[in-house]
Amino acid sequence: MNLLIIGAPGAGKGTMSDILIKNFDLVHISTGDMLREAVKNGTPVGKIAQGYMNAGALVPDEVIHDIIVERFSKDDLDNGFLFDGYPRTKAQAEDLSLILKQLNKKIDAVINLDISDEDLVKRITGRRLCPACGEIYNIYYKKPSKEGICDKCGAELIQRKDDNLESLETRLSEYHKNTQPLIEYYEEMDLVKNTDASKGVDVVFEEIRSFLEGLC
Ligand code: AP5
Repeated sequence: MNLLIIGAPGAGKGTMSDILIKNFDLVHISTGDMLREAVKNGTPVGKIAQGYMNAGALVPDEVIHDIIVERFSKDDLDNGFLFDGYPRTKAQAEDLSLILKQLNKKIDAVINLDISDEDLVKRITGRRLCPACGEIYNIYYKKPSKEGICDKCGAELIQRKDDNLESLETRLSEYHKNTQPLIEYYEEMDLVKNTDASKGVDVVFEEIRSFLEGLC
């Protein structure tokens, strides 16, 4: 099964992806994670992406094209994948269609995490991440047992550079302008599962699980 997960910043794409890949044995591909890794390693892609990401703007489509093509050159995607945060523009969606066609693959479903902008503020400003194992926390909704420390591996939690109100405003505006129209684009292909992402993590997962089991 090949899936896309779409939603505004903080809608829960990463949280839900972590659960879905374990339950459905999928490979998780997050362009946000790939770009943050490139920034951390100071690669040429990272050097281009850094400014855009810190400001909350989208990284240019050509850069995203290159990292996606490189990702498909690895041979671990035959049993199913979940794209998180990609595609984000119509050009990226059209590019993905072409890439998949060449590889004789297709998208089976697009999960849309639907949530109002107001609900996202605490999710974004309260998010804390484990830099070692990637576990996602929230100081309002999912606190670690010991403040600032990862329950799973004991590393010190960090906050993302773009998790502030100023950057969130730009990220939301990019989302509404460029990414939200993709829901209609994929609805025309009859691929979209709309989900109320304001509910608790377990409720959201159950709804997606039962939908995906219906596809298998
Ligand atoms: P990316 O990393 O994709 O960030 P994003 O889209 O802004 O989404 P987030 O990671 O902020 O949120 P999420 O939906 O994953 O929420 P999470 O599960 O963590 O991209 C970052 C940047 O990279 C972009 O701004 C852009 O610059 C660039 N980029 C990436 N891909 C690109 C592309 N394709 N093209 C161009 N540029 C690109 O949850 C958030 C918080 O809420 C957590 O604390 C979590 O614990 C909590 N939470 C989650 N679900 C629930 C729930 N149901 N109830 C209560 N709390 C919840």
